[in-house]
Amino acid sequence: MKPMPNWSRLAAGWSVVAAAALSLAVAGCDVGPKSARGLRLPDGNATRGRAAFITLKCYACHQVDGADVPPPLVTVQSPVRLGGEVTRVRTYGDLVTSIINPSHRLSEQMKKEWARADGKSPMPVFNETMTVAQMIDLVAFLQPLYHEIPLDGPPYR
Ligand code: HEC
Repeated sequence: MKPMPNWSRLAAGWSVVAAAALSLAVAGCDVGPKSARGLRLPDGNATRGRAAFITLKCYACHQVDGADVPPPLVTVQSPVRLGGEVTRVRTYGDLVTSIINPSHRLSEQMKKEWARADGKSPMPVFNETMTVAQMIDLVAFLQPLYHEIPLDGPPYR
């Protein structure tokens, strides 16, 4: 399942987007030269995003609330839910980061359920095989599936 690097297919455009978004992920700040401020991807297409989700077999590990995609593989013990009601809304930046830099943030729950010796995310890095268009479309597909449920009191971040 893990795609092998294939440098010749690495499109120049992809490097630019990845560099911009990765610098956001790594630096994690909103100011300075590594800021993601100004990063704007073109609008994606949710229908094509659903197709990419199936082509890239994202469903293998993910249960998607509110979308017609195949169920997670039975061999996956703890499928990760995408979409549905959440207390922290997933921004465009969150989703792009989750998809192209899966190890940026791992929840404690994930570390328990998907324990890996190297501490990295079990989610494969698709950056050598996924096209920029697929990534943009995946975000367009996933983002509307999240619904924020407001908590009492100040927002929990
Ligand atoms: C081998 C299993 C696996 C595959 C395949 C996989 N993921 Fe993941 N994904 C995970 C796990 C586990 C997490 C939870 C975060 C973490 O700890 O890495 C995650 C997290 C995410 C998140 C963040 C969820 C949130 O609530 O913030 C998104 C978005 C996501 N994946 C999208 C995708 C997409 C799109 C694909 C296909 C291109 C994909 N995943 C393929 C295992 C996988």
